[in-house]
Amino acid sequence: MKQAALLTYGCQMNKYDSEVISGILTENSFAMTDDISHADVILLNTCSIREKAEQKVFSQIGRLRPLKEKNPGLIIGVGGCVGQLQGEQILKKAPLVDLVFGTSNAYRLPELIEQIEESGVRIADVEEEVARSEFSAHIKREGTVHAWVSILRGCSNYCTYCVVPYARGEEKSRNPGDILSEICHLIEKGYKEVTLLGQNVNSYGNDLGKETDFPALLEQVNSVKGLERIRFVTSHPRDFTDRLIDAMASLEKVCESLHLPVQAGSDRVLEKMNRGYGISGYMDKLERVRGRIKNLSVTTDIIVRFPGESEADFFKTRDLVKSTRFDSLFLFKYSKRPETPAASYEDQVMDREKQKRFEEILELQKGISTEINRSYEGKKMEVLVEGKSRTDSGKMTGRTRMNKIVNFSFSVQPQVGSLVQVNILRGKVYGLEGTYYG
Ligand code: SAH
Ligand code: SF4
Ligand code: F3S
Repeated sequence: MKQAALLTYGCQMNKYDSEVISGILTENSFAMTDDISHADVILLNTCSIREKAEQKVFSQIGRLRPLKEKNPGLIIGVGGCVGQLQGEQILKKAPLVDLVFGTSNAYRLPELIEQIEESGVRIADVEEEVARSEFSAHIKREGTVHAWVSILRGCSNYCTYCVVPYARGEEKSRNPGDILSEICHLIEKGYKEVTLLGQNVNSYGNDLGKETDFPALLEQVNSVKGLERIRFVTSHPRDFTDRLIDAMASLEKVCESLHLPVQAGSDRVLEKMNRGYGISGYMDKLERVRGRIKNLSVTTDIIVRFPGESEADFFKTRDLVKSTRFDSLFLFKYSKRPETPAASYEDQVMDREKQKRFEEILELQKGISTEINRSYEGKKMEVLVEGKSRTDSGKMTGRTRMNKIVNFSFSVQPQVGSLVQVNILRGKVYGLEGTYYG
C-alpha cells in the first residue's frame, strides 16, 4: 500500500477538508501516515489568510527537499487555499512541487497522483467543482465525540481585506437532507456533538431558494435523536437575526456559545472593510441575544492596523473590548493580501507604535478572560467528556456548553462521550480546571 501524509494549515474548514481528503485517499488504497519520511505522497492543505500563513507553506516545501533527493519518486502536492489562488504559478515558483490542487476538487486526487506517477509530468488542476452533495461519504474524522459538519462552502461577502471568496468561491449551501443524513450517520457511530460549519452560517440557504434558512436547519438538526449538542461557526453580525436568536433560545441542543466577529470598533474602519454593519447595530444584536440566553459565552475576531486605522479608531476598538467583555478573542494584525481591495488602500505599514496597540488589546483581553473564567469557580458545570487531557494524562478533558475547555481529575473515570457534572475549582486564561466525583 502506498503511504500518504497530509499536512494541514489554516481554519476549521481546511481541517474538515483534510478529513475528507484522508477519506478519499483511504478508499483508494492509500494508507495515511504521520511519518513524512516514509511517505510516497506528501500533501499540504494550505491557508492563505495572512502573508505569514502562506510563507509557512513555502518554507515547509523547502524543508521537504532532503526527502525528495533521497526518494525522487516522492510526490509533493499543494492544495487548499494557496493552491486554489496561485494554481500553476506554484509549479514555477517551487520546483519540488509535482501537483497543485484546489479547495473543491480533492475527489480527483487519486487520479491526479496516478497520472503523475505514470507520466512523470507535473500537474496543476484547480478546476472548481460545483456539486453540492459531495464529500460526506468519504470523511475520516479526527475526533470520536465531536464532529465538524460543513453546511456552506465559500463566501460571498467580500470583506475588503479577505482572500476567502477568491480561494473558495461564492457561497454554496449543502442540501438539508445531505446534512441531516451525515449527522444521523455520526450519531450511529457514537458522536454526541456537532459544529455546523460555514464562513457565514447565517446566509445558509440563500442560494437554495426559499426552501430553508439557517434557523430552520437548526430546528431540523435539533430533532436528531441521540445528538446532545449543536454549535455553529461563523456568524456574520450583519446577518444575525432575531429569528436566529429565537432558535438559539428555544432549541435545547443549541449550546450557549456564539462566535460573532466584530473585526473593529470604529464605524469608519468597518465601512472600509465592507462589513455591512456599524458598532451600534452590533451592540444592539449582542444585547438582545445576551438578554435572551443566560450564560451565553461570546467570542470574536479583531483585526488591528487595518489600512488607515487612526489612533482614535484604535481607541474605539480597545474600548469595545473593555466594555463588551468577550469570553475570548482572536486578534490579528492586518495582512495585505494580493488582489483584495484593501491591498491598494493607503497606509499599510505596521510600525513599532502600532505593534504596541496589538499587545495592549491582548493583555486587556487576557485579564477579562481570566475574570470571566474565575467566575465559574465553585460552580458545577455539565461537561461532555472528550478523552484524556493532553497536558496531564491523569486527568480527563471535555467542554462545557459555553465551549470552555475543562481539564478535570476524577474519583471514578467517566466514559468518553458521556455528560458529567464537574465541580469547577479554577478558572484560567484559556479554560477551567475541576474535579468529577462520579
Ligand atoms: N468567515 C469568518 C472567518 C474568516 S477568516 C468571518 O468572517 O468571521 C478568520 C479571521 O481572519 C477573520 O474573522 C479576520 O479577523 C481574519 N482575517 C481575514 N483576513 C485577514 C487579513 N487580510 N489580515 C488579518 N486578518 C485577517
Ligand atoms: Fe472573509 Fe468576510 Fe467572508 Fe469572513 S465574511 S470569510 S472575513 S470575506
Ligand atoms: Fe481557511 Fe485559510 Fe482558506 S482561513 S478558508 S484555510 S485562507
